[in-house]
Amino acid sequence: MSKPIHSAYCLVFTLLLAGCGGDDEKAPLEGDATGATCGNSTLTYDNFGRNFFTTYCRRCHSADAPDRHGAPGSVNFDTVEQIRANSARIDELAALGPDAENEAMPPSGITPTDPQRDDLGRWLACGAP
Ligand code: HEC
Repeated sequence: MSKPIHSAYCLVFTLLLAGCGGDDEKAPLEGDATGATCGNSTLTYDNFGRNFFTTYCRRCHSADAPDRHGAPGSVNFDTVEQIRANSARIDELAALGPDAENEAMPPSGITPTDPQRDDLGRWLACGAP
């Protein structure tokens, strides 16, 4: 007796969730190269990158993420090599520099401060050492 009703509710919820998630994730991701330069930066993966990406990005961009919130399966930041491989796009979406202030990522939750986004651009410009 209650089984068909339960199934109907499940179907409705599934459709609602799919609809909402789809709309949010379709927003186009825009951003320009920041033009950041390395300068005399002393930032490294150990003293900056690992903590930055763990705090602000890996909640969605990790092979270990329980819920990726729609982040593409191919875009993970678990290793510095993966970060380097996406360096230009990360600069366009999350870093700050003389030519652009990019804040498309992260799309929700805890976000980096401007000085941290500035450091991100600088560190990437150095080749993410
Ligand atoms: C709440 C989940 C979430 C967090 C946190 C997050 N992202 Fe994303 N990221 C997404 C989603 C969803 C997409 C796909 C968006 C799209 O294609 O419209 C995405 C896509 C990307 C892409 C690929 C986009 C492209 O078009 O090439 C990059 C690069 C990226 N994110 C970088 C970052 C960086 C850097 C951080 C941390 C500063 C970050 N993301 C934090 C959810 C997240």
